[in-house]
Amino acid sequence: MSGKQTVTEHFDSYAPTWHLRIKQHPYAIRYRVVERMVAGLSPKTVVDVGSGTGEYCQLFDPQTYIGYDISPEMVKHSSRLYPTHKFEVGDAEQIPQPDASADLTLDIAVIEYYDDPLPHMRELVRITKPEGTVIVAVPNGDNRSKKPLNGLARLIDRLLVRPYKPYKKDILHNAHTLKDMRALGESVGLKMVDYGYCSLRVLMHDRPNTALSEVWSDRHSLDWLSSKTATILVCQYVKTV
Ligand SMILES: C[S@@+](CC[C@H](N)C(=O)[O-])C[C@H]1O[C@@H](n2cnc3c(N)ncnc32)[C@H](O)[C@@H]1O
Repeated sequence: MSGKQTVTEHFDSYAPTWHLRIKQHPYAIRYRVVERMVAGLSPKTVVDVGSGTGEYCQLFDPQTYIGYDISPEMVKHSSRLYPTHKFEVGDAEQIPQPDASADLTLDIAVIEYYDDPLPHMRELVRITKPEGTVIVAVPNGDNRSKKPLNGLARLIDRLLVRPYKPYKKDILHNAHTLKDMRALGESVGLKMVDYGYCSLRVLMHDRPNTALSEVWSDRHSLDWLSSKTATILVCQYVKTV
């Protein structure tokens, strides 16, 4: 279990270089999956919960967007990197937003740090308008490629000399399957309407534009293969309550 204090200290220490990760393959593909999901929406209010260094704000007008993060250092760096957008310190379980105020609520890679994602999910539902959209990204629990390929991925990481620190091993990082995420959504009044997979970390490291990555990731025609190999799952829901 990782408490909020541990999570905050963990991300405070990662904040100065977190923005560089968006260039790494799975994170870049995740950004594109979210970009595809929001393309048809015209949200007047977007709340980005656990906004990190704020990269997702680039998809939205500054007037519509607010990012909250529990880490003061993340908020400091996001405000420096994207000065036209608004970022504040805030806890995902007590978001300082009125009920039913967001057309679109993002929660990209946050629930995995907690044993019980329910209070957090309920809070996302509370702040979202009826019929509004909620997008949640998590580590993909159906991935079967992770163990055998981890050693290879680590070797590639070392050869490429990444400009940021590798992740600490003692922090909780719960994966969730598509089935789990569908059921978790239903339990709080969210209907899953779409999902996307972000493919193998070990492939095309730091080169998100390669053709293979594009074909492999986020294509429902390759669902079986993607579900077993993707490192990240992105779920799009509509609020039904
Ligand atoms: C893996 S990072 C993802 C950051 C960003 N969403 C992205 O995709 O680049 C997780 C972020 O969630 C934040 N976080 C963790 N627990 C939180 C909580 N209870 N409330 C708000 N933010 C939280 C962390 O500080 C960190 O910035």
